[in-house]
Amino acid sequence: MLVEKNVPLQALNSFHIVAKAHQLVRVASQADVQTVLASGELGAQPKFVLGGGSNIVLTGDVKPLVLKVEIMGRRLVQETARAFVVEAGAGEDWHDFVHWTLQQGYAGLENLALIPGTVGAAPVQNIGAYGVELQDRFDSLDAIDLQTGRIFTLNAAQCAFGYRDSVFKHAAPTTTRGLGLAGRSLITQVRFSLPKPWKPVLGYADLERRMAEENVPAPTPQQIFDWVCDIRRAKLPDPALIGNAGSFFKNPTVTAEQCVDIIARDPKIVYYPLLDGSIKLAAGWLIDACGWKGKTVGHAGVYEKQALVLVNRGDATGGEVMTLAKAIQTSVYERFGILLEPEPVVV
Ligand code: EPU
Repeated sequence: MLVEKNVPLQALNSFHIVAKAHQLVRVASQADVQTVLASGELGAQPKFVLGGGSNIVLTGDVKPLVLKVEIMGRRLVQETARAFVVEAGAGEDWHDFVHWTLQQGYAGLENLALIPGTVGAAPVQNIGAYGVELQDRFDSLDAIDLQTGRIFTLNAAQCAFGYRDSVFKHAAPTTTRGLGLAGRSLITQVRFSLPKPWKPVLGYADLERRMAEENVPAPTPQQIFDWVCDIRRAKLPDPALIGNAGSFFKNPTVTAEQCVDIIARDPKIVYYPLLDGSIKLAAGWLIDACGWKGKTVGHAGVYEKQALVLVNRGDATGGEVMTLAKAIQTSVYERFGILLEPEPVVV
């Protein structure tokens, strides 16, 4: 087992923040993880699981032992009358996996095209875009308990998925989210149930607009994949060129009463009524309304085309990103009385 020391993490996090891992081990199988856990010195150390690094803000060097997940593989596990069940290793690139499923004729993940990161990170924050969330296509996952080395399988209910949330984001046992698994487990494989027959998910405004513009009344999965890629490229920065972690804040949910006041003051506010009577507000709009779009503080900035995305303008530290995030939180709170919650994990 090769233990790399003082490993630069700049290329391993999508914000491109400069930081080092004191020690890093690349794991390519469940057996590799178990070997690390069984080796006395390494096994006893605190651990940090690193996937594609697309949802983290590094605020310093990482002292826990970094387990870089490089578990690969993609396969059809089962075909039933109702679904294709497809499995991928946690280290597979998410977008490449989505592309592969379409090439094989297994449709259903096309709305989730071009989301940065790995397959193993996708359930952690229940990735979502253009009307589809990972939980809508999820079958089950395998993971390893980092304390005991035990391999276990979780179904969707056990993952306790919520909006950009799962059991993997919660450290302590809570009554609402079951047993928290943050920092305690490493996801090794994820299985998806891709329904037959396939039905397009088109309700999202940007997609509806594309469909009308191109006059394609019955788009194919590939067509939707292409549209989603175009829409994302037009308004989200490519992390290969501009460091970022996608949406920096979650869209906040408020009660109807809270919202009545806000809408009365700002009739142009963008909001979506939810089934339970609460209302989701577009955080990007709130931040934009506070004048942040295109602004820079230190070396961190707010993306010019989407105020919900914070970017690295070059050599930003994690501290600078968090200073900007806090300034945004304060101004949105002062104007709207709403506290925005960050999406990425701050390390
Ligand atoms: N808006 C503004 N100004 C801005 C940004 C947005 O007025 O600077 C308005 C837009 O005009 C639109 C509304 O806010 O009416 C919502 O914006 P958008 O459609 O871009 O979606 P979003 O709510 O900002 C969410 C997800 C994205 C996902 C898109 C598409 C969250 C936190 N973000 O963004 O997910 O791709 O919807 O489904 O839920 C991510 O999580 O990293 C991510 C990129």
